[in-house]
Amino acid sequence: MLEKAGFDGIFFADNLGYHDVFRGNGDAALRDAAQFPINDPTVLISGMAAVTKHLTFGVTCSATYEPPYLLARKFTTLDHLTSGRVGWNIVTSYSEAAARNLGKQQQLTPEERYDLADEYMDVVYKLWEGSFEEDAVVRDTESATYVDPNKVHPINHAGTHFSVPGFHLCEPSPQRTPVLFQAGSSSRGMAFGGKHAEAVFIQSTSVEGAKRTGAKLRQAVTEAGRDPQDVRIVILLTVVVAPTDEEAQAKYQKAVETAPIDGILARFSGWTGIDMSEYELDIPLRSVGTKAGQSMVDMFSKADPDRDWTPRQIAEFLAVGGTGSSIVGSPETVASELRRWRDEADVDGVNLSYITKPGGWEDFIELALPELRAQGLVAQAPTEDQEPVTLREKLFPGHKYALEAHPAAQYRARRLSGASR
Ligand SMILES: Cc1cc2nc3c(=O)[nH]c(=O)nc-3n(C[C@H](O)[C@H](O)[C@H](O)COP(=O)(O)O)c2cc1C
Repeated sequence: MLEKAGFDGIFFADNLGYHDVFRGNGDAALRDAAQFPINDPTVLISGMAAVTKHLTFGVTCSATYEPPYLLARKFTTLDHLTSGRVGWNIVTSYSEAAARNLGKQQQLTPEERYDLADEYMDVVYKLWEGSFEEDAVVRDTESATYVDPNKVHPINHAGTHFSVPGFHLCEPSPQRTPVLFQAGSSSRGMAFGGKHAEAVFIQSTSVEGAKRTGAKLRQAVTEAGRDPQDVRIVILLTVVVAPTDEEAQAKYQKAVETAPIDGILARFSGWTGIDMSEYELDIPLRSVGTKAGQSMVDMFSKADPDRDWTPRQIAEFLAVGGTGSSIVGSPETVASELRRWRDEADVDGVNLSYITKPGGWEDFIELALPELRAQGLVAQAPTEDQEPVTLREKLFPGHKYALEAHPAAQYRARRLSGASR
């Protein structure tokens, strides 16, 4: 459906744990299907790649639990299968349940997780960019050689957290390093995104808040020595569209009224590590520190200083499409609101959420897209005979590999200069 409608891509969130912070157990999350059950999205993408040509795939994987050597192989494989249509949303996880079930006593602190992730990135860059020279794979029947061993280099990584002496397991894929997404927006998260991200997911309760977050992020990119425009900012928004404004409002109200409050609070509790059952529903929640997702707490406190949010109001906000703001109205209203977000919040793209799936997508495609295209806000769908491009080329036309100022590029020198090992 998305391929046919000309969507640029589909994004998969992921979590290696389940939500068991609310009331100290997983009951609400299981009953209300709050991010549960959750299949491995990378496996699903390999199937989706086979039946699509232009649609790209963003997928979340944690840099906290899986060894970088394995993750590098997984993404190279996906990049081959999708012909360069894959991106990795780098997360540092938030779930104590994940930590416990993966053999840890408890989670590392957020700072420790980001320290680990920084070294993790060095390892995967070395594997993706520095291990195989450009012409290492010769497939030469004359000399009976598949890979020229002189052109494959061990990465010799010996760091604080990881030891990877050898070379990459896969031959280079179309993008080598998959497009790197990131989403954490604590100050440490921003610094990490400023250094590594090529696209960043943001979320906000208002256009003004999104603009502030985006400006901070571009500042972090500058501080990391990159051009502030070298990162694409993608805002999470839910569009509730119907033929008229009144019908759309009715649809929105119905979603709020029928939303499973426990399941929503179970998700929010899981993300933030704060058991929302311990708070009065109608007393404003002030900013609190957490070992889990700080930006999720800050979104309803620090990042929105003009308003005091109560748990009930947070749940109602989250009820429609999750953590994104909602745009509710006729196709014309949706178009003018999306235009406002683009122009005033200075965002480059939208991660579109929904009330139901695939109903929300069907409504958007049938009702909103024709109007958005008529107004020139969304590009036309690719034609049948159009050649597909990689995800990176979609975001940064003409660039197959990470941009020059990106840290992945520093590991490229050896493969381009052709130095021997
Ligand atoms: C918009 C958004 C989407 C996120 N998606 C995921 C996800 O799919 N899986 C996950 O484990 N963490 C996800 N996170 C969590 C962050 O990547 C990060 O681990 C968490 O927010 C803690 O870092 P922070 O304190 O810097 O925000 C998301 C965060 C945000 C803000």
